[in-house]
Amino acid sequence: MSNKEKKTYYITTPIYYPSAKLHIGHTYCTTIADSLARFHRLRGDDTLFITGSDEHGQKIQRAAEAQGMKPIEYVDGIVALFKDLWKRLNISNDVFIRTTEPRHERVVQDLMQRSFDNGDIYKSEYEGWYCTPDETFWPENKLPDGKHVCPDCGRPLELVKEESYFLRLNKYADRWLKFIEENPDFIQPESRRNEMIAFVKSGLEDLSISRTSFDWGIKVPWDPKHVVYVWFDALANYLTAAGYLEDPENFDKFWPASLHLVGKEIVRFHTIIWPIMLMSCGLPLPKKVFGHGWLIVDGTKMSKSLGNVVDPVPLIERYGADALRYYLLKEVRLGQDGNFSLPTFINRINADLANDLGNLLQRTLAMVEKYEDGVVAGPTDKETVDDELAALAVETVRKFEAEMDDMKIDDALNDIWGLIRRSNKYIDETVPWVLAKDADCVGRLRTVLYNLMESLRIISVLVSPVIPASAENMWTQLGLKNFKGVKLADVAVWGGYPVGTHTAKGEALFPRYDLAEEVAEAPVDEKAAVDVVPAAKEPLKPEIDIDTFGKTDLRVGIVLACEKVPKTSKLLKLQIDLGTEQRQIVSGIAKYYKPEDMVGKHVIVVTNLKPATLCGVESYGMLLAASDGNDNLQVIFADSMAAGSRVR
Ligand code: MSP
Repeated sequence: MSNKEKKTYYITTPIYYPSAKLHIGHTYCTTIADSLARFHRLRGDDTLFITGSDEHGQKIQRAAEAQGMKPIEYVDGIVALFKDLWKRLNISNDVFIRTTEPRHERVVQDLMQRSFDNGDIYKSEYEGWYCTPDETFWPENKLPDGKHVCPDCGRPLELVKEESYFLRLNKYADRWLKFIEENPDFIQPESRRNEMIAFVKSGLEDLSISRTSFDWGIKVPWDPKHVVYVWFDALANYLTAAGYLEDPENFDKFWPASLHLVGKEIVRFHTIIWPIMLMSCGLPLPKKVFGHGWLIVDGTKMSKSLGNVVDPVPLIERYGADALRYYLLKEVRLGQDGNFSLPTFINRINADLANDLGNLLQRTLAMVEKYEDGVVAGPTDKETVDDELAALAVETVRKFEAEMDDMKIDDALNDIWGLIRRSNKYIDETVPWVLAKDADCVGRLRTVLYNLMESLRIISVLVSPVIPASAENMWTQLGLKNFKGVKLADVAVWGGYPVGTHTAKGEALFPRYDLAEEVAEAPVDEKAAVDVVPAAKEPLKPEIDIDTFGKTDLRVGIVLACEKVPKTSKLLKLQIDLGTEQRQIVSGIAKYYKPEDMVGKHVIVVTNLKPATLCGVESYGMLLAASDGNDNLQVIFADSMAAGSRVR
């Protein structure tokens, strides 16, 4: 697209559940969206960037009850923390949408009514499985091996039986498949598109879109004893935020959205349920849904029980928002999972930000100050090396535009850093400190310094979507004004740095850190990001008598050896001494315990369970463990009891 052509660009992040404090994985998604929104503004596109909070549903109601609070009080407190985090991270969202806002309630009710009037909603009874932490219905046929655990998050499902309204998803399956065929770019990356096609082809069940067993939600307009299913409610936020019903002019301008950026586990909601909701309401479909990968920590998924949940706030406080933003966007290729580790973060700050970029600015400004009293004169000559630098700068701007437009942020950063490194090399090649000693070389010195200042001007604009505060700081130190008004077109042509400008050298852009010291004092506060969802309320099982219970033989056993079961991330194989005999037991605790941590532990074993084979390995019994249904699990230990002791 040409720089002059005015386009609109509407980008969204998912709206986050206020059931937990946001962790670094959430900041990943918002940072990507922010840098894309900033790029589009820079290019001159009329941009709308939204984020928000998804505040209704059973999970939130339970979390509020667990704290003895009204749901709205509970969410108000957490939403304030979200907003604070986005401010600290320099997120430039135009709208923060809350699903508890009255304007949103009107939109959700309007959509329900439209679908109903079109004959796409009917009343029936839902009897089946529900993952409360994910707020997801799971029909029996989508549960592998008929196991009642969530296929997405692995947590136990709850059995739900209640009157409910259903949306006729099935009716739209063919139309959906046709749409996907005609719009091959709608779901990205391609692997997710294929997954979604397979999901729909395996049989699309109608979706339960109302609940009656709790009341924290938007009421179904024609039947207020029902509240709207939280995903139906949440997805509609993208319309509300663009002004649907309230601001038709804005809505016409921005809808359909250019891009819904979402994590991979919620692609299904955005690419199947959401388009069908819109088809049913007669509204245009968004142009693209991109499912990004997960940010994992030191090689493992973040989880409270592993104690590796990273809170972004202390990281921002210590290293600054720009360092974190740069790291997230540089280190992870969009669409793939990426790893966060403190040492690689510190190394990136030192190498890329402090050395490459920070140094280039410092060295250049120091020379302009020393040799030219801080005033940049115009170039007087031109050598091949100057042409090379200028040509690379122009080419970098061109590639940057194409790559950012294609969401290849890490490629764009590589190219910008190519220009930064070339500029540093240009200093070494042109040796300004030697030129400064020779009165005959004044003209050449001025040319060299001008070219460096021009390169830095261009670089400061190109880095601005990713490290906006540092970019502005650079701009100011270069002696330039009106950073907010700058557009990409202003750096498309070499030579725009105004001759005669007074520079304003300031502090170093990024400090350098000592890796060993930083790792020793890691500012990672696990407690701060803990998920506060209470234990899932699994219904209690029917009564049994003492004789029935007495049939279960529970013994203390000592773990003699323990190893991982190959080809699965879930199972450990344990050899256990029961006092009178030795047993092999396979247990699904690998996510929570390392094999070496289990050796020597006194555990409680159900000894008279029928043997079973798990992933090809035989298991003679079971270990007792407590689990709250929210991904937390603890094996029950009986440390001071001898092997073979009975448990009753
Ligand atoms: N409320 C729903 C979204 C409704 S949108 C209409 C929801 N909320 S969430 O808070 O659980 O997750 C919000 C986003 O954060 C999701 O896109 C999810 O993928 C993302 N992330 C949560 N943890 C993540 C990582 N560790 N890494 C990257 N993103 C992850 O789902």
